[in-house]
Amino acid sequence: MRTLIANGTIVTADGSYVADVLVDGETIAAIGKLPEGPLGALAGIAVDETIDATGKYVIPGAIDVHTHMELPFGGTSAKDTFESGTRAAAFGGTTTIVDFAVQSRGKSLRDGLDTWHAKAEGNAVVDYGFHMIMSDVNDDTLAEMDTLVAEGVPDFKLFTAYPGVFYSPDDHVFRAMQQTAKNGGLIMMHAENGPAIDVVAARLVADGKTDPYYHGVARYPIFEGEATNRVIRLAEAAGVPVYIVHLSAKDALDAVRGARDRGAPAFAETCPQYLFLSLDDLGNGFEGAKFVCSPPLREKDPHWEELWRGLVKDDLQVVSTDHCPFDFHEQKELGRGDFRKIPNGLPGVEDRVDLLHDGGVIQGRISRERWVDLISTGPAKLFGMYPRKGAIAVGSDADIVVYDPGRMRTISAKTHHMDVDYSCYEGWSVQGASDVVLSRGTVVVRDGAFTGTRGAGRFVKRSAADYARLA
Ligand code: URP
Ligand code: ZN
Ligand code: ZN
Repeated sequence: MRTLIANGTIVTADGSYVADVLVDGETIAAIGKLPEGPLGALAGIAVDETIDATGKYVIPGAIDVHTHMELPFGGTSAKDTFESGTRAAAFGGTTTIVDFAVQSRGKSLRDGLDTWHAKAEGNAVVDYGFHMIMSDVNDDTLAEMDTLVAEGVPDFKLFTAYPGVFYSPDDHVFRAMQQTAKNGGLIMMHAENGPAIDVVAARLVADGKTDPYYHGVARYPIFEGEATNRVIRLAEAAGVPVYIVHLSAKDALDAVRGARDRGAPAFAETCPQYLFLSLDDLGNGFEGAKFVCSPPLREKDPHWEELWRGLVKDDLQVVSTDHCPFDFHEQKELGRGDFRKIPNGLPGVEDRVDLLHDGGVIQGRISRERWVDLISTGPAKLFGMYPRKGAIAVGSDADIVVYDPGRMRTISAKTHHMDVDYSCYEGWSVQGASDVVLSRGTVVVRDGAFTGTRGAGRFVKRSAADYARLA
């Protein structure tokens, strides 16, 4: 199958230009661009289909390196399966996800990884990779880390939050970091001071402050800043790069900035919810449960502007979603009367690309090239997929989005494709939407209709964290 994407504006992390893109099979075969040939130079070539991209952007398929399909959490499970979640991702222009496999306490990493492979294989509609959540750090699991790196699962998430669930004490975090110093992997940290948060949360509940709003109150920004600084210092001591997930607060960003200013290989992502939603959304009685995630939504000032500055100045390299959807009815409702029992997590895999285009590019906060960098090229580099993914280049996978930067779209649970009964952005109007989405050369979404196939998504075996070590 040969497809010509004609006359679009190719937007990459490095620059933009008008060109034709020839897709042959699963990869990009040629780019017809001046001075190599006149525009349309590829037009004479025999193809099975031509997609007219005049006036549209042609961007590398977006990559979401932080999703939780079917995550068991808070006494229930995140609702999207690999089928529904990757289909929703594709509608939103995301053609690769990296999801978190979970090691259950007392079981092996292998067991957890096999379980996640079984969930995804035959179900995902676009490509996927895995990180590994480590719940136990001991001699056995440390040895297993090396095997996983060799198998293309080179990153490990540990938590200084959620005591009794995923929490690891400092010595465990440090041992895992020492192991990745040897095996080339990357440690991803959920950095909040969980034990301190639990003290504040217990006090609030004892005082009758049980509404979702108090979830946000209990998790002080300073607790995120302290834990972020601590894990970065531990990584420096171990001599390895570290990646802070779902960074939400200025306090944490200051710790990352400080580390990068002294030359430490510290990296971080933020998520749309921390750029566009705030502590106010947690109010409004139990409705606020729709917005319960950890770290929590912050006050608008000073956090929003600081995060945008971090994205512009490259102290934040990635925008992911932390997609972890729970229905409001029955799932979020588990926490009526005690905010600590609300399952933590928000839906978002479908809306990230458009939210960041509208709130970032259209609002003049970031360039369209930086947008592509944050949603696709940056994650591909940091997570061992570049230039196979995250690039419009000859030889790269033909994961391509023909994006209409002018189209208006209204976000709503009535029309979204995520399997969840609400949207955090209900009724929002955003400018920019994906028209045609290709996954390895196959059109999977066209003009609002799904044309892909369940099970067509493949596991992406990723390389060790070379970019993180060289950056
Ligand atoms: O609230 C969140 N973030 N839920 C998903 C689990 C995690 O900590 O990433
Ligand atoms: Zn987390
Ligand atoms: Zn997460």
